[in-house]
Amino acid sequence: MQNFRISVDAEGIALVEFDVPGRTMNTFTDSAVADLDLLADRIAGDDAIRGVVLASGKSNAFCAGADLGELGETAGAQETDPAILAAALKKSARMSWALRRLETIGKPIAAALEGLALGGGLEFVLSAHYRVAARSPKLKLGLPEATIGLLPGAGGTQRLPRLAGVEKALPLMLTGRPVDVDEALSLGIVHAVVAPGETVAAAKAWILDGGEAVQPWDRKDWRAPDGPFTPRGNTVFAGAAAQLQARTAHNYPAQTNILRCVYEGITLPMDAALRVEARLFLATQQTSQARAMIRSIFLSKQALAKGAARPEGFAPYAANKVTVLGAGMMGAGIAYVQAAAGINTVLIDVSQESANKGKAYSEKLVAKAVVRGSMAQDKADALLARIDATTDYARVEGSDLVIEAVFEDRALKADVTGRAEAQLRDTAVFASNTSTLPISSLATASKHPTNFIGIHFFSPVDRMELVEVIVGKETSQETLAKAIDYCLKIRKVPIVVNDSRGFYTSRCFDTYLREGFEMLLEGVAPAIIDNVGRMTGMPRGPLELTDDVAIDLVDRVALQARIDHGQPEIPTEGSDKLLYDLVRQHDRLGRKNGKGFYDYPADGAKAVWSGLADIVPVKVARSTPELVEKLRQRLLYRQAVEAARCLDENVLTSARDGDVGALLGWGFAPWTGGPLSLIDQVGVATFVERCDALADECGARFVPPALLRRMAAAGESFYPAPPRAKAA
Ligand code: NAI
Repeated sequence: MQNFRISVDAEGIALVEFDVPGRTMNTFTDSAVADLDLLADRIAGDDAIRGVVLASGKSNAFCAGADLGELGETAGAQETDPAILAAALKKSARMSWALRRLETIGKPIAAALEGLALGGGLEFVLSAHYRVAARSPKLKLGLPEATIGLLPGAGGTQRLPRLAGVEKALPLMLTGRPVDVDEALSLGIVHAVVAPGETVAAAKAWILDGGEAVQPWDRKDWRAPDGPFTPRGNTVFAGAAAQLQARTAHNYPAQTNILRCVYEGITLPMDAALRVEARLFLATQQTSQARAMIRSIFLSKQALAKGAARPEGFAPYAANKVTVLGAGMMGAGIAYVQAAAGINTVLIDVSQESANKGKAYSEKLVAKAVVRGSMAQDKADALLARIDATTDYARVEGSDLVIEAVFEDRALKADVTGRAEAQLRDTAVFASNTSTLPISSLATASKHPTNFIGIHFFSPVDRMELVEVIVGKETSQETLAKAIDYCLKIRKVPIVVNDSRGFYTSRCFDTYLREGFEMLLEGVAPAIIDNVGRMTGMPRGPLELTDDVAIDLVDRVALQARIDHGQPEIPTEGSDKLLYDLVRQHDRLGRKNGKGFYDYPADGAKAVWSGLADIVPVKVARSTPELVEKLRQRLLYRQAVEAARCLDENVLTSARDGDVGALLGWGFAPWTGGPLSLIDQVGVATFVERCDALADECGARFVPPALLRRMAAAGESFYPAPPRAKAA
């Protein structure tokens, strides 16, 4: 038993420390799950043990959940062979039965929680008879499985609603939201809260005080809360089902199956309830959504967050002093994340007032954190002391890196590049945060184009995890390695792309908005377009999203593209003309002036602008299932085909970066695992066939790139198919 350390004291209390060897964080690997049986054998068989305290052998946390590296490999294997299914069911339910054995072992078990317990970690301790948690801001308890396409399979869907009630437990499982100690206490997830460092003693005291080895649901007088046959339960389940449909549009089998587990299991005896859960867990794990979500949302993202896209062979680069040029919205956010990561930051703007305003953004964020109790005052002071807000370019001297975030103006960018470089060492890196101007063209203003790179942040910088690193024609691999080291230091997830108009993320995101405009021009009612947009799993519909981004911004980007392509500045047709007219003739700028595709009255909900129908008359005002399916396909496939083009043109160099960039950059429908994973799910050959049909019907924008045709002909996919399971 290598994952649990047991020591029995003179009073017969066994302290069981969960400590997966060679890892900084405990996860339920196959080996740890197998050890649960051995642990139960030992507890049951050792007469010297009268009670058990479960604790963590790691200082930071109890357990982060299942080992997704292992689970991710087999996910998505859509088996139908009964013998293989039976073996898979046995394997996937193993932890569930081990925990059931522990909770019915006849000896009291108390869990002492000093740090987070998520997923399998929480499921493990929910099988204990008593849980005591430390009062610590780091302590989070939750069942986040649904966020990666799985369900809380080791009894989570059964024990949490039995403890907290169906109404409170369901949203926690459907969204994966973790709770802090106070909420956990009020929900009955933990029984007591004590000071950090005192949980083991408190757990032990509970046992010595006569803590009983019986779960509430194993008592004779137990009645399930909110069962589906009670009037209250009926209301709760009906409401949950309606909300689920509205929020997920049936894109997420995991959420549907969580609801089923609770509905079907809540009134059953625990053993029968766990069998219901086990079957649905396996069915969920076999879906293509689970495979794609585990891969992109967890494994690929984690790999990139550790620097998977960094070229090898270069010494680690420590950016200790970094200058940010421009203290506007982006510069202010970049200065904050740098200072939070311990980087000495010079924040430059044209006036001291503007520079101070940029620093004030950090002042506001740390003040909030101090009030919330998540940051100590001395840490807050130290963070702010790292930001030197100034107008003086002489302070750039000694910087390891400069991030340029001034207005999107080529001449201005060239000017500040020269001024900053005059103060820099030859080895320092210069990065532009431009969102639209090709990096190779900006690099012509630099003395050292090999040191010049794009580091494209997303807004708001302190919340968005992704950074798109853009390699220009002359950017050296060493500069790329340095830029990635900087991104990792500020705890961002960097993807690497080659230079192109709109790079990768803006280019593909734009296609989503544009497809919405095309539908509008065809006469589809705006409400249908945006509803279908949300039904695809995108966070917002294309028209409302354009309003959020600002119509004039989308128009300006289109204008720049026309100029660069030598086309007339004033467009005469299509979506470019629509945008141009909306901005110039009708002052429809978007949400920011309360006038976009929608009106935004101060005192009510938004409503489609009545004047829109005069510009683009509505011809399709009623939706049918066929129409919805067609529009849905267009909105998703248009983005996916553009992502595939980016791979074909070497703008992207890996499907991994493309998928993670899409999910984190523009909120691409998470159930797909990203646009390239979506193509895999559809099947490359089928995707090509459908895109050809869409191209015939809607236009050349759907024509699949040569890469996809080659892959279709060769029967290839972007990612390996799931391995076939074996019969026992
Ligand atoms: P902003 O307008 O909020 O800030 C620009 C700042 O640059 C202003 O404070 C201005 O005073 C300052 N500035 C102008 N000339 C300067 C000079 N000579 N020296 C120092 N500072 C000077 O603009 P924002 O939104 O922060 O954008 C900055 C850059 O980031 C642009 O290139 C933009 O395309 C890019 N970007 C913007 C994103 C967004 O969501 N707003 C996302 C990603 C990139």
